[in-house]
Amino acid sequence: MVTINKNYLKLPGSYLFSTIAKKVADYQAAHPEEKIVRLGIGDVTQPLAPAIIDALHKAVDEMAHAETFHGYAPDLGYEFLRSAIAKNDYQDRGCRIEADEIFVSDGAKSDSGNIQEIFGTDNKVAVCDPVYPVYVDTNVMAGRTGEYNKERENFDGVIYMPCLEENGFLPELPKETPDLIYLCFPNNPSGAAITKEKLQEWVDYANKTGAVIIYDAAYEAYITEEGVPHSIYECEGARTCAIELRSFSKNAGFTGVRLGFAVVPKELEREGVSLHSLWARRHGTKFNGAPYIVQRAGEAVYSPEGKAQLKEQVAYYMRNAHYIYNGLKDAGYSVSGGVNAPYIWLKTPKGMTSWEFFDYLLETAHVVGTPGSGFGAHGEGYFRLTAFGTFENTQEAIRRIQAL
Ligand code: MLT
Repeated sequence: MVTINKNYLKLPGSYLFSTIAKKVADYQAAHPEEKIVRLGIGDVTQPLAPAIIDALHKAVDEMAHAETFHGYAPDLGYEFLRSAIAKNDYQDRGCRIEADEIFVSDGAKSDSGNIQEIFGTDNKVAVCDPVYPVYVDTNVMAGRTGEYNKERENFDGVIYMPCLEENGFLPELPKETPDLIYLCFPNNPSGAAITKEKLQEWVDYANKTGAVIIYDAAYEAYITEEGVPHSIYECEGARTCAIELRSFSKNAGFTGVRLGFAVVPKELEREGVSLHSLWARRHGTKFNGAPYIVQRAGEAVYSPEGKAQLKEQVAYYMRNAHYIYNGLKDAGYSVSGGVNAPYIWLKTPKGMTSWEFFDYLLETAHVVGTPGSGFGAHGEGYFRLTAFGTFENTQEAIRRIQAL
């Protein structure tokens, strides 16, 4: 008889953003007259930059002719894109990363969910709390955790590193030694950034203990402050302990286009085995590459025009971030984030739980955000607003929240 993967049964309810989407859809159906402003999921609203659109058109035309048609992409991605990434995202920042250490994918969500497959199921996982739910849920599915603990509202067998106001929303080195450490900076959901000095401590710790850091740098384009690293490879020794994941979703608006990449340095080995070769094996077997058209669009992100246009796009969203941050502060909220990240993290008022505030905001201001507790037990009492809306909707949301 067929059996199922019972690890899935450990997961409570549906995926966070699916739950929110359903709640909002139900509310809208019951109140069709209300104009809801959505600052929940971190989905972009600005159209693709002209340089990207041009590259897409050109690539589509190439597909129309036998001489320039492209079928399956190379396993690890097209050389033109991998070289552009290696040069612009790494070598120009002084990081020693080569094109053949880059694995092009359909986005950082897939990579951050799939990367755990190359590690044993007996590995101990450490995550920040609150945390992007994909890291935890995919390890639950793989059987790397115990049961869901209703009292603690998290999973047995996972090392949770509380990121609280008193530690600047940054994790501290855990007492129990983990094998896999997930870090995301600038952080989703709190918007907190880590300094290079602090990140170096994690790299040193991982090299000392033999742990591997999965470093999600999806929001690096939003860094505005000096001393905040754009890549973990800015830290000495990261090549022997870290895998970095990047996305084109947030810096270039590819949420609906889909493109990302993972960096696995050739020096990174565990049990005498190269993690680069394991990931290459996994990638080659399970993935047939991001589309040629999309990889050409990705290449345009690094063209002079693309860079200039995307700088403006990021600035547009950061204007929203400042607007939300200042608007909430003026209204008496306790807020953080929004300086090196497109997320604003606020304390819920009047002792409301995160979900109570979600309902309150939806029902009274018709504004959607994301409840902090959806990201983990230590997110309780917090709430996330995204800066990825339009400026007009952002202004409207803040006006409504201020009027509460
Ligand atoms: C979020 O809202 O946390 C992100 O949009 C989720 C994602 O990037 O998958």
